[in-house]
Amino acid sequence: MFVSENLGVNEKGHLTAGGIDTVELAKQYGTPLYVMDEALIRKHCQSYKNSIDKFYGGEGLVCYASKAFCCMEMCRVMKDEGIGLDVVSIGELYTAEKAGFDCNKICFHGNNKTDEELEYAVDLKVGRIIVDNIYELKRLDKIAENKGVKANIMFRIKPGIDAHTHNFIRTGQIDSKFGFALETGEAMEAVKMAISCPNINLKGVHCHIGSQIFSINPFVEAAEVMLKFIADIKNETGHEVVELNLGGGFGIKYTENDDPVPYEAYMEKVSVAVKESCEKLGIKQPFILIEPGRSMVAPAGITLYTCGGIKNIPNIRTYVSIDGGMTDNPRYALYQSEYEALVANKADKPRDTKVTIAGKCCESGDLIGEGMPLQEAEPGDIIAVCATGAYNYSMSSNYNRIPKPATVFINNGESRVVIKRETLDDIIRNDM
Ligand code: LLP
Repeated sequence: MFVSENLGVNEKGHLTAGGIDTVELAKQYGTPLYVMDEALIRKHCQSYKNSIDKFYGGEGLVCYASKAFCCMEMCRVMKDEGIGLDVVSIGELYTAEKAGFDCNKICFHGNNKTDEELEYAVDLKVGRIIVDNIYELKRLDKIAENKGVKANIMFRIKPGIDAHTHNFIRTGQIDSKFGFALETGEAMEAVKMAISCPNINLKGVHCHIGSQIFSINPFVEAAEVMLKFIADIKNETGHEVVELNLGGGFGIKYTENDDPVPYEAYMEKVSVAVKESCEKLGIKQPFILIEPGRSMVAPAGITLYTCGGIKNIPNIRTYVSIDGGMTDNPRYALYQSEYEALVANKADKPRDTKVTIAGKCCESGDLIGEGMPLQEAEPGDIIAVCATGAYNYSMSSNYNRIPKPATVFINNGESRVVIKRETLDDIIRNDM
């Protein structure tokens, strides 16, 4: 009935998340409110880890792509679960460090890292810096030299795989701002240059083919292409690449129409493909890293809003306005992403109206979705949007100077604030 396994309905007919009454949460903390089910996040961590243990002899590391949802408490949960981290900016790196994260388990990404970011990463002894271009390689070599250390790197490679997902979130093809292309020879050139850099240790290669991907095949193909590259590197230069990072991108269920592959199946197929390729190519099996973001946290999140005005435009549509919108969830405006919504205080009733859920920004495109099935909504109702745990808070903004919502984590029947609601003073904090 619901897109996420932790959702249910209690005896009052209210939507529950992790067994907690969401209407009570809205009352206690106010709306809009991000609610994240910590138990479900931990469960995802464990299933990813277990599948690497089961199918790849534990020779791998799951690095949560923190861009999906990054805050100190999330980093603490990941640390506690023995998960590594993918960060893409000094801000994410700082958050992880302040949360006490082991920086050796961090992969630092980004197609245009600044010197400040590279220096900070080297100072923190970040386990793997994912180098995107030659300009970065040269600067990193210098920075490491100045600090008297060797930087551990992976190269971001475009494996040339089409992952059939939204254009904005496809990254593996040659026309991408990320990484080195294989077919033009630039990737091999970069490898040779890295090997000749005295302060660089080329540990591995990385690829990420896109996001919200539903089939296993593109991942298997990408793994095969990357292993062939590892073999080519060995043959041409004698250098042994010991790590392969296969990125993230595993799809999740936003609506009933989505049919994601269980990670177990993904890990099994990819592990078999890696082992077979290594045998065929005569290379050692690499240590494997994966970087799931969305699939770790999206299903664990819901956003609660209070319903405001309702505008029925006869024969056209009904707008249901909420007290949030594109500032806390810009994904419909950006990608026409679909979500399921329900009236949390009428969760036992049928969703027999079709509405457009509109945010409160001065922007016509500020919508959460169109043609969304919903229970008959009235002002004051609590509206829940499901599976908002990834790329909602992390992509939120203060457009129209709207304060960002609070985030609460729920676990074992209890809730706690992990990110405070922004105040009006927060809004003017940096104004002079
Ligand atoms: N690794 C790298 C290098 C990435 O660039 C990404 C996502 C991930 C891992 C995690 O991918 P995931 O498992 O979450 O699919 N804002 C967009 C998604 C952008 C994804 C960017 N990179 C959205 O809201 O759909």
